[in-house]
Amino acid sequence: MNPAAMPDPTPIVRLSTAYWESQALLTANRLRLFDFLADGARSADEVAAGLQLDPRSTALLMRACVGLGFLCESGQRFENTPVAATFLVSRSPAFMGNVIRYSDQLYAAWGRLEESVRSGQPAVPAQTYLGDDPARTRAFVQAMHDRALGIARALVPMLDLSGRRTMLDVGGGPGTYSVLLTERFPGLHAEVIELPGVAAVARELVAAAGAGKRVQLRDGDYHSADFGSGKDVVLMSGMFHRETAQACRTLIERAAACLNPGGLLVVSDVFTDEGGCQPAFAALFGLNMMLTAADGGVHADADVMQWMAESGFHRLRAAPLPPPMPHRVVIGEKA
Ligand SMILES: C[S@@+](CC[C@H](N)C(=O)[O-])C[C@H]1O[C@@H](n2cnc3c(N)ncnc32)[C@H](O)[C@@H]1O
Repeated sequence: MNPAAMPDPTPIVRLSTAYWESQALLTANRLRLFDFLADGARSADEVAAGLQLDPRSTALLMRACVGLGFLCESGQRFENTPVAATFLVSRSPAFMGNVIRYSDQLYAAWGRLEESVRSGQPAVPAQTYLGDDPARTRAFVQAMHDRALGIARALVPMLDLSGRRTMLDVGGGPGTYSVLLTERFPGLHAEVIELPGVAAVARELVAAAGAGKRVQLRDGDYHSADFGSGKDVVLMSGMFHRETAQACRTLIERAAACLNPGGLLVVSDVFTDEGGCQPAFAALFGLNMMLTAADGGVHADADVMQWMAESGFHRLRAAPLPPPMPHRVVIGEKA
């Protein structure tokens, strides 16, 4: 082939080693390297001694973190860059370490992608982190909470719930959105339907936020739980990616049935464009969910809007959250 006509192999070279970068970040976070540097610069030997690591290997990891932009080095001493100090130090209010710990826990599952593609089975049974394993369940709920606190900064201002009184938060996880929305809109009360193991941890978080009077957690399976009636808002956040298209349609129909006329259905998730391939992150997110939930995958927001229209919702709109958040929110009103 004429070399000038050859396609550029750069993406292949880049992606075949991209996991090096992920693992360097995840390992540094797991070792609490950024916390150790939170009070100022230290040498690699000091870090190795403090964290009980091998000095030569620690220096290699820290130099890789310099290359990735999380540390800077001057005179053999290392310190956190502003991005690490803001997001990777546990005492920072914007700490993302628990969220990326969840990615860390899924690293081994991604190594079993071929197996899942062959068998159609998730590499990690969802029950593991939704109740069966208490430590993983707690880590999952904490990660969802930390993530929701970040996403809520964009999502909450997009929702006008003034005058609304009752909200059903289906698969509400840590209840973070219910806590923040009922705080922002006084008079709004929320009921969160969650699996018992997750709900137990969520109750602690809701109580710690002082929101126990306005946010109630109900143990239940959202496929069979009674959604009640007379709701003003139904929130379905981050759960369609665990469900088949048919299950999503049924959940939307049940949301319509429990809402008052004029009530809002808010569906927030990672969605693809029509066709399911773009953005690439969303298509990859479908694989992540395939690896971690029996019916896990990803849907297109255009499909969700169509299902909502078929269930009697109107004034439908879809909006992306600002980058780097990959989420989109679809909102419709019961006609
Ligand atoms: C990705 S989390 C999203 C949590 C929350 N809505 C948020 O956006 O932060 C999905 C939630 O759905 C819950 N879930 C999954 N299957 C469920 C079921 N059958 N019944 C009730 N909750 C379920 C999980 O426990 C988990 O908390």
